[in-house]
Amino acid sequence: MIDFEVKPLNRAFKLIRIKPQMLIKMKEVVPDVYYIGVNDHLTKLFEGLWPIPEGVSYNSYVVKGEKTALIETVKIPFIDEFLKKVEEVTSFDIDYIILNHIEPDHSSSLPRLLEKVPNATIYCSKKAEGMLDSLYGITENIHVVEEGEKLDLGGRELVFYMDPLVHWPETMITYDTKDKILFSCDAFGSYKALDFGLFHDECDPDIYYEETIRYFSNIIAKYVKYVKKAMEKLAGLDIKIIAPAHGLIWRKNPQRIIDLYIHLSDRMAIPGVVVIWGSMYGNTAKVVNHVVEGIKEAGLPVKVLNFSADHLSYLIKETWKYKGVILGFPTYDGGPFLNTSYYLHLIKRKDLKERIVGFFGSSMWSGRALKQAADQVQELDWEVVEPLLEFKGSPTDEVLEQAKQLGKAVAERVKSS
Ligand code: FEO
Repeated sequence: MIDFEVKPLNRAFKLIRIKPQMLIKMKEVVPDVYYIGVNDHLTKLFEGLWPIPEGVSYNSYVVKGEKTALIETVKIPFIDEFLKKVEEVTSFDIDYIILNHIEPDHSSSLPRLLEKVPNATIYCSKKAEGMLDSLYGITENIHVVEEGEKLDLGGRELVFYMDPLVHWPETMITYDTKDKILFSCDAFGSYKALDFGLFHDECDPDIYYEETIRYFSNIIAKYVKYVKKAMEKLAGLDIKIIAPAHGLIWRKNPQRIIDLYIHLSDRMAIPGVVVIWGSMYGNTAKVVNHVVEGIKEAGLPVKVLNFSADHLSYLIKETWKYKGVILGFPTYDGGPFLNTSYYLHLIKRKDLKERIVGFFGSSMWSGRALKQAADQVQELDWEVVEPLLEFKGSPTDEVLEQAKQLGKAVAERVKSS
């Protein structure tokens, strides 16, 4: 029997030296609306799954009229920093706590916050009410919000809209009618902590662009049809500022992030090709450069990733981004290379449809891997470019030329699609 000890979280935190830029100062978004979120540089895997080498932020806001509302909390390890900011902005005089989403990265500080503001009323959706009971045993002072319901703060009004499955079924969004601020929770969010500024015009938003795509493909993608519905609902709102629960606040030109989200909800598919390959002994690897050469000759951008060296988080992200996909892998256990199998499983889970795909790979005594993979992706309406380039052992010059032609054929098909 293995003796397993769960160490207290605080012990691990004491080992981390917090650099000044890891702490975000409380900041005014507009007069009477404040950012009180935190940066997380401690978590290695978001949701225990997805790498966040540059951290992530948990954004929380205070909105003041004659009454005061707090929107979202933060993940519990950051409770001390969070409560300090809450006190600084509100002196713990809070009338309403708005919870757009109950996933614990936004709600797990709620029980500790309620110790400070026991009379605050929690505003959330009907489904969220049950979740608060399941997660924290909280059953009192809850007001269940209806679609389009308004909350008058005195000189400022909040309106609530249901936003189911972006990203849990209980999710809603909150809209401030005075300054036209959309508090969108996970929607429009990204990985990457806010080390250099809160607003997209304070830093280079391109740095966050790729991390927004990765966050979307990893976390939100499975429910893409609901994102599409949400985008249609938002089209009727006059939005001047988007204040999500992760990543940058978008002001001045929020349409930029809205356009990206519309694009993402259409499964993106920009003209280009991602090549993802894996190799056991180097035979499949010898083909990769020739495939890439063919794509470049056709004039399309190409991104190359590896099944063994790159985390699935990035493989899924690049596959969401590009229309063309070329997968290279050997046969293993009579089927696709193991990491390839997990990738194929995940693209189905994420409902990643309508790509143009080519295959190459080495086999020795059993050569069914490429055919098996091609059959799987066709279930997702992926168009397979024939022939499947399966070869025995090390590639010959003829195979290398065929690899170049495969790259070219997939790229040309992407261009004409
Ligand atoms: Fe950031 Fe779905 O929680």
